[in-house]
Amino acid sequence: MNQNTILIVDDEENILHAMERLLEEEGYRMIFAKSGNDGLEIVKEEDIHMVVSDHRMPGMTGIKFLNEVKKISPETIRIMLTGYADVDLAIKAINDGEVYKFITKPWNNIELQNTIKQGIEYYNLQREIERLNNLTQSQNAELKQWNLTLEQKVAEQTKDIQNLFLDSIKSLVFALEVKDKYTEGHTRRVTDYATYICKKMDFPQKYIEDVKLGSLLHDIGKIGIRESVLNKREKLSKEEHEHIKTHVAIGEKILTPIIKNDTVMHIVRYHHEHFDGNGYPYKLKGTSIPLEARIVAVADAYDALLSERPYRKASDPSIAKKELRKYSNTQFDPDVVELLISNGCNVLDNSLS
Ligand SMILES: [Fe+2]
Repeated sequence: MNQNTILIVDDEENILHAMERLLEEEGYRMIFAKSGNDGLEIVKEEDIHMVVSDHRMPGMTGIKFLNEVKKISPETIRIMLTGYADVDLAIKAINDGEVYKFITKPWNNIELQNTIKQGIEYYNLQREIERLNNLTQSQNAELKQWNLTLEQKVAEQTKDIQNLFLDSIKSLVFALEVKDKYTEGHTRRVTDYATYICKKMDFPQKYIEDVKLGSLLHDIGKIGIRESVLNKREKLSKEEHEHIKTHVAIGEKILTPIIKNDTVMHIVRYHHEHFDGNGYPYKLKGTSIPLEARIVAVADAYDALLSERPYRKASDPSIAKKELRKYSNTQFDPDVVELLISNGCNVLDNSLS
């Protein structure tokens, strides 16, 4: 059963009957009107898919009627049917977009049937396109919302994983602090000095966060060093000194499976390298030592100088700065030393004391 509705408007009864007979076998739902005004009332009330209208009618011309139909129901297919084969009228009506097709009376039955069939197919096609467009739009909106929700969930889960990871790192650092009393507070201060240097160098926040993590973990390998050596008050023997140096390799071994961040690993691996190539374990020299490791080396040494150790007393900041300068260019990167000990560092010392 064809569900399309066609309104046929003509002031001549016999034309309406002829059209009815011609189109009934197609199964259209047909509504008839004898004037433009009656036709407009129907268009306002009903869902009309096509209008076939005579042109010469009392009260309202076909062109005027179809123009009004367009205003009320723009999607309705409009066909003009007239006994007056006025070519200019036809051209104007089609060019103005008022009329889909123009058919002259007397008509050819087959031609009229085909024209109406094509018009209805066109209408149905347009509605299908419209339906698919609406469907695509609503699905796109749903997809967008779904993506947003998914992104939020991923962000939340990433945050949870990061927090869990940082908690695990804190546990590791805590394990070291329990073993080596000197470490307690030292990692925090090294982190603060290194952050201070990075900020002076205007590094991006991501890099600073990586340096902070690396500073926190730089000595984690001391977990593997004998407590008797870590807390020894006397000068270390050569064997003990060699043993303590293994904390770099141990730290690397502990962290390699869980840290996939070059900046962090550079700090752990190279924070005992010296600028002149006489450090350990790789004897890297100058700028072949990653900058983040050169920064932490200075921060580490500065805090060590300011801290009391089992075998010596703490230096005051002015002495510590002199020491750093003394070893600038041999043990330390001179630029990094200058950044740390130049103005502002006293403020940092006060805040950390
Ligand atoms: Fe170290």
